[in-house]
Amino acid sequence: MGEAGTSAHAPAHVPVLLDEVLDVFAPLDGKLIVDGTFGAGGYSGAFLEAGARVIGLDRDPGVMPFVHRLKERFGDRLTFVNGVFSRLDEIVLSLDGAPVDGVVLDIGVSSMQLDDGARGFSFREEGPLDMRMGSDGESAAQMLARLTERELSDILFAFGEEKAARRIARAIVAARQETPIDTTGRLARLIEGVLGRKPGGRHPATRSFQALRIAVNGEMNELVRGLFAAERLLPEGGWLAVVTFHSLEDRIVKRFFDLEKRQGAVSRHAPARDVTGKSWVNVHKPRRPGRDEILRNPRARSATLRYAQRGAGQPRPFSVGGLGVPGSSLRGVA
Ligand SMILES: C[S@@+](CC[C@H](N)C(=O)[O-])C[C@H]1O[C@@H](n2cnc3c(N)ncnc32)[C@H](O)[C@@H]1O
Repeated sequence: MGEAGTSAHAPAHVPVLLDEVLDVFAPLDGKLIVDGTFGAGGYSGAFLEAGARVIGLDRDPGVMPFVHRLKERFGDRLTFVNGVFSRLDEIVLSLDGAPVDGVVLDIGVSSMQLDDGARGFSFREEGPLDMRMGSDGESAAQMLARLTERELSDILFAFGEEKAARRIARAIVAARQETPIDTTGRLARLIEGVLGRKPGGRHPATRSFQALRIAVNGEMNELVRGLFAAERLLPEGGWLAVVTFHSLEDRIVKRFFDLEKRQGAVSRHAPARDVTGKSWVNVHKPRRPGRDEILRNPRARSATLRYAQRGAGQPRPFSVGGLGVPGSSLRGVA
């Protein structure tokens, strides 16, 4: 993995909804914040600037140049761990990091990952069909070679909401019998061949690339586990802020914070619920970027920030039930 983000071809990631995220944790001076998706360090840098200590995590070792840059300025106030946020509670406790005041997750790919053709995330950049954010596990090319037509179709439908999932899966299986589908260009052209291309419309491979990326990185599983890990780690009063980029993920975060409310809405004759025992309180309305931010950074346009404060309730046991997780029946790929 190269020095992602340091070349002219891969400009640093522009942090999305930064002011809104800072607002959640303000005032930051003296606080300890866990940034579960360090990326280019946009959020972490702003927290440090405002006087906080930060534990940053990222599964992508390619973020190290950004870590070094912030370490030069802020020294020991920043600790970085190359790891996944689904384990953020274990990681922070092993560092003797608790108590923590806040956790932030900015889900998805960074601009450095998307714009670097060699990472294989984008149908716009020719490159190997890799799509791994970390350096382990199966690549997208290996997944396309291994899965059955049915499994491929389920992934495209569940994680890309691709209506033509079956037709695309059938074409992938037919094409891989001739030569492996191991470049972004080959997959993009294959999908274009199946769906055609409307002038001025989105590239027909957009949904399929999203779906494959989610499957390769187990992103739904990571998100749900990350939310529960934050619930276990945060003491009463701590804040969790989550930025997502598509409706499938946003629905999971919304339901995670709302679950108790929805489960509690049983009957008006039922005994009053003990509100002090809630896992989450002060669940805020979602915040979305304004027109100015979208003009400055078009990648912000689909972002949603949700945040809430940890209540006094015991951490709930991990469960995907009621969260609307797509493809939760896809064993081994979700
Ligand atoms: C959208 S970027 C974050 C950008 C960051 N907020 C900033 O301001 O620079 C998402 C980052 O999260 C990382 N990431 C995605 N899923 C992860 C996971 N499950 N665990 C740890 N890091 C993850 C990606 O590698 C990527 O660097």
